[in-house]
Amino acid sequence: MTDHAPEPTPAIELRGIVKRFPGVVANDGVNLTVLPGTIHAIVGENGSGKSTLMKTLYGAHRPDEGDIVLGGETVSFKSPRDAIARGIGMVFQHFMLADNLTVWENIVLGHEPGSAALLNRREARRSLRELGFRYGLRIDPEEYVSELGVGDKQRVEILKVLYRGARIVILDEPTAVLVPQEVNELFTSLRKLTTEGVTIIFISHKLDEVLAVADAITVIREGRTVGEVRPGDVTARDLAQMMVGRELPRPVPRTDRPSEEVALMLDDVSVAGVSDKAALDHVSIRVHKGEVVGVAGVEGNGQTELLDAIMGLRPLLSGSIELTHHRLDSMSTRERRDAGIGYIPEDRQKDGVVLAAPLWENVMLGHQDSKPFSVRGFVDRIAARNQTRRIITDYDVRTPSTDVAAIALSGGNQQKLIVGREMTAGPAVLIAAHPTRGVDVGAQAAIWDYIRSARTNGLAVLLISADLEELLALSDTLLVMLRGCVVATLDPVKVTIGELGAYMTGAASGGEAA
Ligand SMILES: Nc1ncnc2c1ncn2[C@@H]1O[C@H](COP(=O)(O)OP(=O)(O)OP(=O)(O)O)[C@@H](O)[C@H]1O
Ligand SMILES: [Mg+2]
Repeated sequence: MTDHAPEPTPAIELRGIVKRFPGVVANDGVNLTVLPGTIHAIVGENGSGKSTLMKTLYGAHRPDEGDIVLGGETVSFKSPRDAIARGIGMVFQHFMLADNLTVWENIVLGHEPGSAALLNRREARRSLRELGFRYGLRIDPEEYVSELGVGDKQRVEILKVLYRGARIVILDEPTAVLVPQEVNELFTSLRKLTTEGVTIIFISHKLDEVLAVADAITVIREGRTVGEVRPGDVTARDLAQMMVGRELPRPVPRTDRPSEEVALMLDDVSVAGVSDKAALDHVSIRVHKGEVVGVAGVEGNGQTELLDAIMGLRPLLSGSIELTHHRLDSMSTRERRDAGIGYIPEDRQKDGVVLAAPLWENVMLGHQDSKPFSVRGFVDRIAARNQTRRIITDYDVRTPSTDVAAIALSGGNQQKLIVGREMTAGPAVLIAAHPTRGVDVGAQAAIWDYIRSARTNGLAVLLISADLEELLALSDTLLVMLRGCVVATLDPVKVTIGELGAYMTGAASGGEAA
């Protein structure tokens, strides 16, 4: 776009959008202007109202006040059906696919009436392949969604929206679950879409990505628009400060050393895979007291199986697992937790919280039979609420009360609640999968600090993350997993992002820097 050309009519204009929930004003007069054929990013802290604003644009919420203007025309949506009819598509923060259906069934069914869809089966699959090819969203229509990694699922969600003819595509944190290589592929696809006139709204907490891909960025704070900036005019730090309204803490390098004492030991562990692609293949890992061992890898290279093996969710084919010299192999998941393992799961909505239950019940989850929540077999609700209040304060969970259902929390705030619950239970070993996934930069810094100070006090941490910056910031030792094996042991201080990427994709081998 040149400076002198007249501005085109915006594809989307949101004017003074207000959306209230009980006890919360999620959007408090938000303005947003998006030009056609651009990638427009929205950034803001957890709970600042990004998802709510997008659900309003998508017709999933009715705004209490304000106007939605599309291509110069004010519209009023009663449901997503109306928004879809106007060419709006949305990919939600949490996947909405049916695991037991194939890719093409997920995309086509629910769009066309059943019988017509079945008749057009062949045609549907053909046009899906073509669509995928055109935008670099490679996908096998015949594959079952349960077999797909997160990167593939993301592509399916986007294809689903495009298949329905969307000209405005809303992506709510599409990169939170992706590793850098997948992010690059996604961005290439998005660029391609914009050259064909598709308008994209992109939400992310990864500010470097936002700066790399967006044409314009709108910053929101506490439900209000703070401003709109161009990526060339600001740094990631500037953006963070606009979002948060204050300075971010800077990390301090580690001065103490981990102990010699082994807290968690996996010896020659093998398990069968979710699909035969990614079993765990004779893996040995040691995590010492006071040490953070990071695990890098492209999703689907055995990380899920590793977590399942440690938590007792999948039987071992070989090897053993010990927690401070006690064999875990025959213990249930509950017994492992009671023995001192804290667990931040990969999929927070599936394994981390009960969405319908209030926060205080969620805080007891996995700990309901032990102190302080259980007194002679009775649940101590006062203790549970007090503990919840502590977590809300310490982990900055934005919520009106301890009694709202977990589903009413924003995605990042659900994550903060889980991290807070696991950390405050005082585990000996923390198994942390993507602990800051979907969490804003300020909260991420705070969680990193909590993990650092806990490990200084002796906590052993096994950290699995798609975020290389997080792995480098926290790990004392860095492992790389590829096809179910640990293929490299690296020193996070010496390794570069480029080298790490090469090990993760198998382009390099045999790292032994640590
Ligand atoms: N269905 C709901 N019922 C009650 N409150 C809700 C509901 N959905 C969102 N909220 C509240 O509205 C506020 C904004 O939430 P929203 O999900 O829009 O935040 P967000 O900016 O997307 O955050 P995140 O980065 O964590 O995803 C939060 O305080 C949240 O608790
Ligand atoms: Mg959100």
